[in-house]
Amino acid sequence: MTTEGNGARLRLLYDLGCAITSRIELDELLPFVIGKCREALSAGGAAVLLLDRETNEFYFPYVAESDSETARRLSGHRFSASLGFAGLALRTGKSLKIDHVQNDPRHYTGTDKATGLATRNLIAVPLNSLQGPIGVIEVVNRLDGQAFSEDDVHFLEALSGSIAIALDNARLYAEARQAEARLRTQVGALRRDLAVQLHFEDMIGTGPAMAEVFRLMETAAGSSITVLIEGETGTGKELVARGIHRASARADGPFLAMNCAAMPEALMESELFGHRRGAFTGAIRDQPGLFRAASGGTVFLDEVGEMPPLMQAKLLRVLEQGEVVPLGENSPTKVDVRIVSATNRQLSAEVKEGKFRSDLFYRLAVFPIKLPPLRERREDIPALVQRFVKRAAERQDKTVTGFDESALRILVTYDWPGNIRELQNEVERAVAIARETTLLGVQHISSSIREAVNSSGKTQPSRLSDSRAPVGDSYGGVSIAISELVPPKYAETFREARAAFEARFIADSLTRCHGNVSRAARLMGLSRVQLQRKLKEYGLR
Ligand SMILES: Nc1ncnc2c1ncn2[C@@H]1O[C@H](COP(=O)(O)OP(=O)(O)OP(=O)(O)O)[C@@H](O)[C@H]1O
Ligand SMILES: [Mg+2]
Repeated sequence: MTTEGNGARLRLLYDLGCAITSRIELDELLPFVIGKCREALSAGGAAVLLLDRETNEFYFPYVAESDSETARRLSGHRFSASLGFAGLALRTGKSLKIDHVQNDPRHYTGTDKATGLATRNLIAVPLNSLQGPIGVIEVVNRLDGQAFSEDDVHFLEALSGSIAIALDNARLYAEARQAEARLRTQVGALRRDLAVQLHFEDMIGTGPAMAEVFRLMETAAGSSITVLIEGETGTGKELVARGIHRASARADGPFLAMNCAAMPEALMESELFGHRRGAFTGAIRDQPGLFRAASGGTVFLDEVGEMPPLMQAKLLRVLEQGEVVPLGENSPTKVDVRIVSATNRQLSAEVKEGKFRSDLFYRLAVFPIKLPPLRERREDIPALVQRFVKRAAERQDKTVTGFDESALRILVTYDWPGNIRELQNEVERAVAIARETTLLGVQHISSSIREAVNSSGKTQPSRLSDSRAPVGDSYGGVSIAISELVPPKYAETFREARAAFEARFIADSLTRCHGNVSRAARLMGLSRVQLQRKLKEYGLR
């Protein structure tokens, strides 16, 4: 061995050491190791033969050959692990150096037949991991026509221990990766189930209008359909958007939101679609843009009605072609996102007035979800109040547990132009000004709200505690019959009043029975068919 040759081998040992500690995946590690062995030993070919314990066969996970066709043929080749020199090395656990392969009766000719090449000489070294023998490493056909030397054998033996351990680690790593991928899928499925089962847990909603919202959310979560959420300010549009994302197959992907009303037009294009470095003054680095950054997830375009016309045209392209053109680039890039948008405007009216592109509107509103304002779902107010009191008391470290009867009546009666958000602010304010009390009273409510309720004359003194109440809930020690609190809406004739009552009564019973129609029918003393007919009549299903 020349000094130069020694230096090359030391260098190789060093490189292999680095590779074995830094490359953990077999697909990367094997080609590198085998290629280096072939080079260092000036061999025509080198291969790792791994043992498939189930079939007791050798297979070639990776082959380094000067000829790629030979490599291709070998990679599909398998043979019994009891055959040939490889079989012998595996069985005996000893290295072999064979100088005249073709004259040796132990030679297994199947591999030569598969490659169409003749093996002249070889070294076969067994690979032993902690679990025992896992295969053999072979180098064949010294390129200078000579036989391999004893030095060559020692060199390959020196490597075989690290290679075996690296192979073992890579296998364990691959198994762990597979297990992780399986678990990830399972967790995703379970999480979706959970979100659906808990009816989008963060959201309070009991009446028929909210039941419909939950139903639509569930349907939307089942695909990547484009959703438009419409509702007055503070009705929970963002909560719905997040809920759909969380319950969808994209839950593990990002949820990225942009408020079109708050973003200056000059920045919007690059925020949404990205830009290349140098696309404009100040573009000092590439920016992927919201659509590419949200790949595999959901983009939430809040206040989409505020989007300027030029951006509307670009957004249309994303919806129609599923691609974006970043600023400073000529070619489009495909994006994989679900788009959920929200508006508190009447977008269809804006379309009629020519303020919003009709083609974009129809693309955005493929699956519309309308959120009812709080004044149309007063039955939820006590529960919302309770949630917000608890949260605020915890945050502010107060002893408050709820509102007293008269105060609650005001909160339920007020029209809440700012909807849930306004209610939440009001509750937080009341908790903040409370001192050493557990029940908040009328005096804790803003005077503007008290006055609005008084002057509307909507509150009649009514008994809030009623143990016979068909639908009641206990909040802060006050039992509230919701039906007493909510004046029947639009009920001018007896018939309308009865319909309103029936619809509410049925919806409440259904909620109590968790949507189980048969059980609710039994509870109400109706047949299932009668109840089905009523559900249809009132649009409750
Ligand atoms: N059904 C609900 N149950 C409990 N909390 C809710 C519900 N809907 C909304 N909220 C709460 O009310 C507040 C307002 O909700 P959100 O921000 O989603 O409304 P929005 O419609 O997006 O309002 P805006 O139009 O002002 O942006 C949030 O704090 C949210 O957590
Ligand atoms: Mg919002």
